[in-house]
Amino acid sequence: MRAAVGLIWDNAGMYTNLLGGLSPRQFLSEYWQKKPLLVRQAVPGFTGLVDHDDLLEMACDPDVESRLVRRHNNEWELQRGPQKRSKLRGAKHPWTVLVQGVNLWVPAADALLHKFDFIPQARLDDLMVSYAVDGGGVGPHFDNYDVFLLQGAGKRRWRIGAQDDRSLLDDVPLKILKNFKPEFDWVLEPGDMLYLPPHWAHDGVAIGECTTYSIGFRSPDAQELGSEFLGWMQDRLKLDGLYADPDLEPQENSALIGDRMIDQVMTMLAAIRWDRADVAAFLGHYLTEPKPQVYFEPPEQPLTQRKFLSAARKLGLALDARSLLLCAESRFYLNGELLTIEPDDSTTLAALADKRRLPRDIELSDTLANLLYEAYCDGFVHPAEAP
Ligand code: SIN
Ligand code: CO
Repeated sequence: MRAAVGLIWDNAGMYTNLLGGLSPRQFLSEYWQKKPLLVRQAVPGFTGLVDHDDLLEMACDPDVESRLVRRHNNEWELQRGPQKRSKLRGAKHPWTVLVQGVNLWVPAADALLHKFDFIPQARLDDLMVSYAVDGGGVGPHFDNYDVFLLQGAGKRRWRIGAQDDRSLLDDVPLKILKNFKPEFDWVLEPGDMLYLPPHWAHDGVAIGECTTYSIGFRSPDAQELGSEFLGWMQDRLKLDGLYADPDLEPQENSALIGDRMIDQVMTMLAAIRWDRADVAAFLGHYLTEPKPQVYFEPPEQPLTQRKFLSAARKLGLALDARSLLLCAESRFYLNGELLTIEPDDSTTLAALADKRRLPRDIELSDTLANLLYEAYCDGFVHPAEAP
């Protein structure tokens, strides 16, 4: 894959104009989840991170999630990946291919995603990259999550509106708005960026060939959180007692589930409790659990622990692009697992979680050295130079 090009960031690791001169605090209070923001030259010199051929190759990979959308007048066609290379050519009818989770495979894309860490990582989802031929797009629609649409190569016309009417076209394989009423109309050029809060209607149409980088956020709904939490609780449930009915009386119909049984089970189930610590632990596991298609690549010939630590001292350490490391209530969770650490290791681990890197010459306790070596053998971290 091609390396990152033309990235401009300040010492704090943020692109200097990413929010058009707004501080993260101003952006959060005035725009986040409230109204769109167009930033011209948010990332000056940005033309993309993955070249066109590599992106199409990714779309054909069975381990990568992708969609191909084709439009012929008002007919829409959707093909989920892996794509066939032979279908990713031609421009008779406008088409676009959208590749999800590019950050999992391309370290520079992971670095780009984490330039948005002024929003907590717990809210970050992934970086989707789309390539479209002239006229290509996914049609007017709305999303349930916030998105930053950063223009890579070429130009795209975005029309957006804040309509309440969310009715969708019937019998179409995509969610296309029936009555799209755009209020704003902008052409984005390489490096320009548009932030959209959830539910803003939008339609992006390629002007000539183009690529768009979508930094997407996760907004789990209450139903999903509830069922995931109950699944998590199930493995930890410890209830005492056994159903008993020494005062059982004869009943007229033996098929009846009696009131006393219902009452007693109500009391037993009322003993299922959870507290804030359980919710924090659940979130730590749930939010760092790798997506089903993600797998890690442990080093084929791992360094010995001594050599690993010496490489880490020389180069620093970096989380693998696929790794998720979050902290809740002073506990750390790496790829779905709680880490066992000494209290003194918290500061170092917090820095690794925040920056996704540790600088060279860092002092590691024995516990942390062992833990990071194990993580290295699992393919979760690597000795790596800062970008
Ligand atoms: C695209 O990149 O074409 C689609 C992005 C979006 O509308 O969310
Ligand atoms: Co969208």
